[in-house]
Amino acid sequence: MARKFFVGGNWKCNGTAEEVKKIVNTLNEAQVPSQDVVEVVVSPPYVFLPLVKSTLRSDFHVAAQNCWVKKGGAFTGEVSAEMLVNLDIPWVILGHSERRALLNETNEFVGEKVAYALAQGLKVIACVGETLEQRESGSTMDVVAAQTKAIADKVTNWSNVVVAYEPVWAIGTGKVASPAQAQEVHDELRKWLAKNVSADVAATTRIIYGGSVNGGNCKELGGQADVDGFLVGGASLKAEFIDIIKAAE
Ligand code: G3H
Repeated sequence: MARKFFVGGNWKCNGTAEEVKKIVNTLNEAQVPSQDVVEVVVSPPYVFLPLVKSTLRSDFHVAAQNCWVKKGGAFTGEVSAEMLVNLDIPWVILGHSERRALLNETNEFVGEKVAYALAQGLKVIACVGETLEQRESGSTMDVVAAQTKAIADKVTNWSNVVVAYEPVWAIGTGKVASPAQAQEVHDELRKWLAKNVSADVAATTRIIYGGSVNGGNCKELGGQADVDGFLVGGASLKAEFIDIIKAAE
C-alpha cells in the first residue's frame, strides 16, 4: 500500500486568537491537493484547539502538541489523552525535541506516552532526531534508533503512528538537512523498523521530515523515496504552508 503524503503544521507556542483566525482563514481558502493525495494536520496550542477545530475546513485535521502519560487526575497543568479524545481531537505530537530538551522527557517516557495515547484511540506523530553534537560524533543512527526502540518496546500496533525525523540542529535554524541527509536517515529508520518491528510496519509507516522546511526546499525533500511528508514549524504559521502542502503533488 502506498504511503499517503502527510503534512503537519506545528504552531508551537505561538499566536493570539486573532492570528489563529487569520491562519485558519488562509488555510480554508487555499486550493490544495485532495485528501486522497495528502493528509494535512495542524497543531495549535491547547487553548486554541476548540477554536481551530470548529472553524478549520473539514479536510484538514488537528493535533495537540502533547498529552499526559497516563490517565488524568492530580497532575496540575497536564492535559490527558482522554480529554483530547473527548473533544474529538484525533492527533497528538509526542516526543518533540523541544520537550525532550527543555522538559527532560526521556526516551522511555516518550515511549510510554505514545503507547498510552494510542491505547486511548489517538493517532500519534512521534518525533525523533539527533543534536548537532551527536551528528558530528557519528551517532545519528544510534540516537534515532534508541528513541524509536523506546517506542517500539511499548507499541504493537503502528497503524496510527507517523514518525517525524527532526534533526535538532535543523529546527528553527534555517539550516535544513539536505535531501540526501534526510533520505539517508529515513532509509536507515525504515531498515531499523523492518529488522526490529516488521517488514509490513517498515513499508507502511510514514516517516516525515521536520527542520527548517519551507516553500523553497519542500519539493526536493519531498521527492526523496523515504520522505513521506513534513512536520513544519515556523513556515506553518505563514501562507507558505500551502506551498508545502502542494509538494505532495
Ligand atoms: O515541529 C516542527 C519542527 O520543530 C520544525 O520547526 O520548521 O521551525 O524548523 P521549524
